[in-house]
Amino acid sequence: MAILEMRLLPDPILRKQAKKVAKVTPQLRKLVENMVETMRDQRGVGLAANQVGSLQKVAVIETPEMEEPMVLINPEIMKAAGEREVEEGCLSVPGYRGLVNRHETVRVKAMGLDGKIYRLNADELLAQALEHEIDHLNGILYIDHLVSHESLYKITYYDTEEDEFDGEEDEAHEHSASAEPAESVTSED
Ligand code: NI
Repeated sequence: MAILEMRLLPDPILRKQAKKVAKVTPQLRKLVENMVETMRDQRGVGLAANQVGSLQKVAVIETPEMEEPMVLINPEIMKAAGEREVEEGCLSVPGYRGLVNRHETVRVKAMGLDGKIYRLNADELLAQALEHEIDHLNGILYIDHLVSHESLYKITYYDTEEDEFDGEEDEAHEHSASAEPAESVTSED
């Protein structure tokens, strides 16, 4: 397994339509394995293939409640209902979060790694992740669904591993990095 290089905005591959997968091949399985590893490494709840440089229509999702990651090949939203505003981030748009319009429930059809078609109904975080990842495969980003132009905001990361004041830390600086990271890992897709 390998951790793949993340494609970040404004990489044009993020705006491309992914191509339908004809069948599950060993190469596809390998891509999926690497996507799962990359998603976990990045602490995301989902990852679409174009985010790691592939235009195959495949995405993976793993919410905190899941025992194993969900693999979605050629996923499609069959039905979506209800409206809500949710906060969202994207591994391909680092440093930002935004308030977006999403549906409350979705019904999705996809193929699994066993080559079989399955359907599922989802709400809450899973519905949000499904819409987010399926959007990716259609070249759409969460910033296209912002509630308003003002609802995109910058977040600050603090690298707690790094000791900026190596050896010569003074009192005034000691608590300067005490703020928690503003992002919540659970909704970073
Ligand atoms: Ni994303």
